[in-house]
Amino acid sequence: MSFKKEINRRRTFGIISHPDAGKTTLTEKLLLFGGAIQEAGAVKSNKIKKGATSDFMEIERQRGISVATSVLAFEYNGVKINILDTPGHKDFAEDTFRTLTAVDSVIVVIDVAKGVEEQTEKLVEVCRMRNIPMIVFINKLDREGKDAFDLLDEVEQKLGLRVTPLSFPIGMGYDFKGIYNIWEKNINLFKGESKLHINETIEISDLNSKELDQLVGNKPAQTLRDELELVEGIYPKFDKDSYLKGNLQPVFFGSALNNFGVRELLDCFIEIAPKPRAKKSEERLVQPDEEQFSGFVFKIHANMDPNHRNRLAFVKIVSGEFKRNTPYLHVRHNKKLKFSSPNAFFAEKKEIVDISYPGDIVGLQDSGNFKIGDTLTEGEVLNYKGIPSFSPEHFRYINNADPMKAKQLYKGIDQLMDEGVAQLFTLDYNGRKVIGTVGALQYEVIQYRLEHEYGAKCTYENLNVHKACWVHTDNEKSEEFKDFLRVKQRYLARDKQNQLVFLADSMFTLQMTQQKYPSITFHMTSEFD
Ligand code: G4P
Repeated sequence: MSFKKEINRRRTFGIISHPDAGKTTLTEKLLLFGGAIQEAGAVKSNKIKKGATSDFMEIERQRGISVATSVLAFEYNGVKINILDTPGHKDFAEDTFRTLTAVDSVIVVIDVAKGVEEQTEKLVEVCRMRNIPMIVFINKLDREGKDAFDLLDEVEQKLGLRVTPLSFPIGMGYDFKGIYNIWEKNINLFKGESKLHINETIEISDLNSKELDQLVGNKPAQTLRDELELVEGIYPKFDKDSYLKGNLQPVFFGSALNNFGVRELLDCFIEIAPKPRAKKSEERLVQPDEEQFSGFVFKIHANMDPNHRNRLAFVKIVSGEFKRNTPYLHVRHNKKLKFSSPNAFFAEKKEIVDISYPGDIVGLQDSGNFKIGDTLTEGEVLNYKGIPSFSPEHFRYINNADPMKAKQLYKGIDQLMDEGVAQLFTLDYNGRKVIGTVGALQYEVIQYRLEHEYGAKCTYENLNVHKACWVHTDNEKSEEFKDFLRVKQRYLARDKQNQLVFLADSMFTLQMTQQKYPSITFHMTSEFD
């Protein structure tokens, strides 16, 4: 197959949701359709079980699963689909944000009864900011839930999306009769018992036909007609171009557990979802069909085997072909590296591959060369943009608890930060190290892994910080900036890239500081233009 054809047949996406909305179940059903797995239950949930936050076995279990489910690839109707795993737990939100830099589109799963939840809001906001095309899947229609129109309203208001339903439920919960597929103009009746089978669809070319009444009953048929009329009146017509630009989000309804509405979703997905997209680097926009290979690291996973401190760096291929045993330029280190056993990922296994294409993810064995955001090319100096750090929510001093193991501790901290487990800040005035995380769970992970993988012990000390703000000024020589540096000396730190960060102890302090120093900008993320 030609290079261009290989690119055009790839769809790389992520499924995002609040925990429990049904992401794992949907992923599994998609894999079943692709024939990548044979039975339900083969995909393990990567979520941290409730109440298990201090159980290290649970963390290890989660970590083990998360490498196995990092990328799930399968073929469906000649399309190569790569699903990138996104942890739903809020303490691992950074991981998800980074993964979102490697997807070309997303599917958002929403629980019909719970509606839009907190994690969904945050993740969708990131996708919206980047104009990532999104499809919404409203799940668990076999249960009582919110009215479809209310839900669509909620999605529009809370998520700031412009939706258009491409399917519509007939009843819900106990009275759930099936789904009318607006996209294909057919009806899929819900039988409940067919968890593993693909339901047959019945073509309904004319909604006014008596056939509809016979299939679902007079009243539900009339309700459906009225509702579809409303849909047509209220919502914009689906337009692929608007969807691809991130300006319009199609909505599907279904029940992942019952394998219902999933085929419709998948069939529409492969038709409309974007093929690998061009990506901005600091230097220029890079097109996927350029001949020269380039890609970037969006995730690093420490090897589960403590005897081999090897790591796996996940690289998204942006352009060209990635070939085994070929020297590529590691741009940050300005040195060439060769990879003898790049891994490709399939539903239940990983395999060494000779050649991969734009849209694909390869896992490269790494002994500490990579950190998140690194770019690999065939020789050109490119730096891919778009892997920002967000201000952490929690801050603690990290102290060495075993003076004999200082070296191990610093190496461990260094590598864990490269993996993106948390962020490290070094205070300007006394050099003390501060670890910032999204959730408290991360501190336990770090402590545990430092001890088990690096033989180092640490303790933490609380630090009263509300937000870390990246500081920017156009004039570092101004009196105002000098005054800021002097007055706020005790609250200034450097991140790992040596960027200046202001650790504000409260929202109030931040506002006052901003008022006092109007020429300085305080950013909540490390990446700004
Ligand atoms: P997540 O990855 O988004 O966290 O959600 P997951 O797929 O694990 O689903 C969360 C729970 O919701 C699971 O039940 C799952 O079986 C259920 N579920 C998913 N889709 C549907 C659906 O369409 N209808 C109904 N009724 N339930 C659905 P659980 O009891 O928490 O877990 P399990 O013991 O069944 O694994």
